Amino acid sequence: KGLNNMANIVYVRQPYPKWDGEAILRTKNLIWDEPFLVLFWDDIIDNEVSAASQLVETYYRKNNPVIATIPVSDKEVSSYGIIEAKDSGLETFSVSKFLEKPKPTETLSRAWVIGKYVLTPDIFDYLEKAPHGKDGELRLADAFELMRREKDIYGHNIKGERFDTWSKIGFLKATVNYALKNEETKDEFFSYLSDIVNAKKTK
Ligand code: G1P
Repeated sequence: KGLNNMANIVYVRQPYPKWDGEAILRTKNLIWDEPFLVLFWDDIIDNEVSAASQLVETYYRKNNPVIATIPVSDKEVSSYGIIEAKDSGLETFSVSKFLEKPKPTETLSRAWVIGKYVLTPDIFDYLEKAPHGKDGELRLADAFELMRREKDIYGHNIKGERFDTWSKIGFLKATVNYALKNEETKDEFFSYLSDIVNAKKTK
């Protein structure tokens, strides 16, 4: 009985850093013909309804790929993927262009791609057609650029607080945020933090 409730976890290893598209293409024989979620480990969204549920709900309404976005400041544009759209202020909107780490002057859009997507299995065809870098790097952004010419791709403005746990400071902020919310840890952790802060102040 219990076995039916367990997730089936399978690992595929990308031995070299050849970008997100190359990593996703390695899962082709596991996915077959189903839509699937891609969730980057370093983008954490804290919200009552998870970012994954928000994307899946939109996928069921649109039946086409969905990319998670949040608004970004001018300063951060060149650090992330950016999607262009006529109405990117709406909760869900149709994507007209995908740019990977553009200069702030290259686009007026400030709809920033966080690493969460619902993809459809035809993404593998576009990944196979997309241009590779000189060392075999393959970007999801390039596959999206081919795909959006032939079918609709949607952006979805995600609700919630976002933590970038790629950096040390982002990882620490996320840890403290969750530790102060967790029933088991919040009281003791709060007094621990208060003690540290007070000790620093009196120094
Ligand atoms: C990757 C993607 C980029 C996306 C970002 C989100 O970039 O290529 O489009 O905006 O993740 O975290 P990376 O952070 O790997 O440089």
